[in-house]
Amino acid sequence: MADLDIAWTRLEAAAKAAGQKRIVEFFDAEPERLEALTLDVAGLHLDLSKQAWDEAGLEAALDLAHAADVEGARARMFGGEAINGSEGRAVLHTALRAPAGADVKALGQPVMAEVESVRQRMKAFAEAVRAGEIRGATGKPFKAILHIGIGGSDLGPRLLWDALRPIKPTIDLRFVANVDGAEFALTTADLDPEETLVMVVSKTFTTQETMANAGAARAWLVAALGEQGANQHLAAISTALDKTSAFGVPDERVFGFWDWVGGRYSLWSSVSLSVAVACGWDAFQGFLDGGAAMDAHFQSAPLGKNAPILLALAQIFNRNGLDRRARSVVPYSHRLRRLAAFLQQLEMESNGKSVGPDGQPVKRGTATVVFGDEGTNVQHAYFQCMHQGTDVTPMELIGVAKSDEGPAGMHEKLLSNLLAQAEAFMVGRTTEDVVAELKAKGVPDAEIATLAPQRTFAGNRPSTLVVLDRLTPQTFGALIALYEHKTFVEGVIWGINSFDQWGVELGKVMANRILPELESGASGQHDPSTSALIQRLRK
Ligand code: F6P
Repeated sequence: MADLDIAWTRLEAAAKAAGQKRIVEFFDAEPERLEALTLDVAGLHLDLSKQAWDEAGLEAALDLAHAADVEGARARMFGGEAINGSEGRAVLHTALRAPAGADVKALGQPVMAEVESVRQRMKAFAEAVRAGEIRGATGKPFKAILHIGIGGSDLGPRLLWDALRPIKPTIDLRFVANVDGAEFALTTADLDPEETLVMVVSKTFTTQETMANAGAARAWLVAALGEQGANQHLAAISTALDKTSAFGVPDERVFGFWDWVGGRYSLWSSVSLSVAVACGWDAFQGFLDGGAAMDAHFQSAPLGKNAPILLALAQIFNRNGLDRRARSVVPYSHRLRRLAAFLQQLEMESNGKSVGPDGQPVKRGTATVVFGDEGTNVQHAYFQCMHQGTDVTPMELIGVAKSDEGPAGMHEKLLSNLLAQAEAFMVGRTTEDVVAELKAKGVPDAEIATLAPQRTFAGNRPSTLVVLDRLTPQTFGALIALYEHKTFVEGVIWGINSFDQWGVELGKVMANRILPELESGASGQHDPSTSALIQRLRK
């Protein structure tokens, strides 16, 4: 057996053994557990001690990372090799947050001069819009930005805006993503075209939803300002510069990026220009710096003290060792409430693959379902199932240690819930404990017999805690880079290319086939169910 197969077999055996024990008991058996499984990096505190692995399990997981040559893959990514093999591309979103003078090459070609030049243009544009030096066609300063994009051209900037937006922004930033006219109508209803800057964000500049919304926004501007006027209210962010000029965006309002930046990794690029304008450049630069700090850690920390690697290994231990096919991510932070939606694209679009780069089926399960929403809200919604459902779902709970926002006393309540949930997931509540409580309350024995099991919590449900010292541009950047590298490490260990997304193509092609059938009754070949639905919807 090859080393990697041996390492997988060891991990599976170690997980099986650990899975028969209780997590809470590991703390007694392993006096160093807390020390070994907590770490502080770039303003984040990670606690993986409530995970399902024991010492032997962790060791087996680290051996697996070693056998999969995570370190070699990491060097190839940062070295700008064509690790996205199916598209022949390097993967260098890390260059977008690297300092100007860094030596970074994509497929052997230096990239930092171009990166820095776009960054400087972004900065100048952001400052000029904020200062009212760049204005609309009728001379009014821009008070609102309409950011149009979808997927990676939407989820990251939306999350970034929520995380960093001032309490009372001077520029109102709005997002439109879906090709559902209701979203466009609701979002623009109270905007004044004279004071609105429209930013069309699309790596390819061909995405159906984005181009439909961009066309609608252009028409909305033209109706108020005329053709020439409308152009002054447009900016475009894309790698397809020929298409942006065909759309009528003046060249000086086009901000490029590169094919070595995947859509779901693009929030470090001009894709987030709208946020840089609305939050100010310093905040955006802080975000880049936080990402760079995590990059430095990921590249240099030993495997056993490497935050993205440990986070990835915990996921693999749960997914492959213990067959847990979902993970819930719950930020106890209103500002981070869209994190799970962002991670759905990052992790599931990157690693939801069934074959490797050689076209051969993978031998083990890959990406799990990721879901979640903000705590404490979810405690009053789906947490029942997390505590007492038949399936164990590993949890990731994210908190912010210090916050001065809002009314006094609330933040401690928020934190107490975060800690309580993690403890409850692990410790649970025994039937004996419940029985004693019910007896003390004088509940009759017959009732106790049926009530006690319903009030029992099995516990032993693993969780990871990530606590930001404060929610700053830097810690937020470090958090996002942490998840990016975690996703990459998982892809390396699963033996897949995390940087293409062929799985999104089929639906797009079929929608384009169905559209003329809905619009004008053209005929097409479909299964009976789809044909019947087309007929029905045409009516
Ligand atoms: O359909 C999936 C996808 O290609 C994502 O990978 C991407 O982030 C999104 O669509 C948007 O693509 P674009 O930025 O090219 O409009």
